[in-house]
Amino acid sequence: MAEIAGKNVLVTGGAGFIGSHLCDGLLERNAAKVVCVDNFFLGKMENLQKALSHDNFVLYRDDARNFGVLYSIMEKEKIDVVFNMATIALNYSFFNPFDAYMVNVEIANTLLELLKMGAYQTLIHTSSSEAYGTAQYSPMDENHPTNPTTPYAAGKAAADLMVQSFYKVLGLDISIVRPFNNYGPRQNAEGSLAAIVMATARRIQEGGRPIVQGDGEQTRDFIHVTDTVRGLILAYEKEASRGQIVNLGSGREISIRALLQSICDYMKYDGEWEQQPARTSDVRNLCADAKLAKELLRFEPQIDFKEGLAQTLDWYTNKQAGGADFV
Ligand SMILES: NC(=O)c1ccc[n+]([C@@H]2O[C@H](COP(=O)([O-])OP(=O)(O)OC[C@H]3O[C@@H](n4cnc5c(N)ncnc54)[C@H](O)[C@@H]3O)[C@@H](O)[C@H]2O)c1
Repeated sequence: MAEIAGKNVLVTGGAGFIGSHLCDGLLERNAAKVVCVDNFFLGKMENLQKALSHDNFVLYRDDARNFGVLYSIMEKEKIDVVFNMATIALNYSFFNPFDAYMVNVEIANTLLELLKMGAYQTLIHTSSSEAYGTAQYSPMDENHPTNPTTPYAAGKAAADLMVQSFYKVLGLDISIVRPFNNYGPRQNAEGSLAAIVMATARRIQEGGRPIVQGDGEQTRDFIHVTDTVRGLILAYEKEASRGQIVNLGSGREISIRALLQSICDYMKYDGEWEQQPARTSDVRNLCADAKLAKELLRFEPQIDFKEGLAQTLDWYTNKQAGGADFV
């Protein structure tokens, strides 16, 4: 078993939602150094408040696609492990499909070239359940066909193929983690790239109406960000995951309508919902088969959805009220 304690770790996209929690998780588990590389496309300094209070946290405002920049950082910081978390959120596919696709492929390409030349030892690459597309059977195991329906997801699936092929040809030290829908504190609530839980909480708090797109019977498998972080770190530590794609999900699907209702109930909103047409190329159903993660990583989500949702909504309302505790 590999130990994260004592390692110098680089996190691409470390100022984002999952990446910032990962930085905190790595520091808590005594990584020798945690180096965040983020271009702040969607990352926020406030997400790094906790990490920045550690002496062994280093922040670079840079583009993870840039081979020269990453090479210099890896050499200077003597990086052992990279967690690739950088991306541009799915909704960007509707504004700039080319970049939504390319950012996923180009960052993976840069990291693979650097791994091949020995600039660091291990890559934990993050995929997405969106790479599968709508469930052809449920729950979806890692052998489920990939059928991406957005450029974001196509970029994820393409990057996964590239990463797997480098593992096969060169035997590099690589694991791929495929998270399902994450939620939790720090998820983006603003603008057109906002995630559904936060966007809905914001609308209700600002006196607006929750939005339901299509019939609301689309389903997703929600996993709390703290569980995902634990799974990511286990993917490094449990070397049985090398060369594999491993789902990180709860194995339980919930409809978007039920999710919206839970948010409304918790926030005591009983007004109207705004009905919008179904989003083009929206995935219909996603539900993880979580067996491989249990077998290879000894991983099972620990945070109950109802409790996790309450904690997330409390965090958001507290933050909007100027709460001092920025988790
Ligand atoms: N949030 C989810 O529900 C979910 C589900 C499955 C998979 N994932 C994957 O997990 C990872 C993290 O997702 P997230 O939800 O935290 O997204 P996020 O948008 O909050 O974070 C991504 C970070 O990457 C940064 N970034 C974008 N382009 C960059 C570049 N060229 N160079 C450096 N940094 C760059 C952004 O500024 C941002 O801070 C992604 O790979 C995503 O595909 C997320």
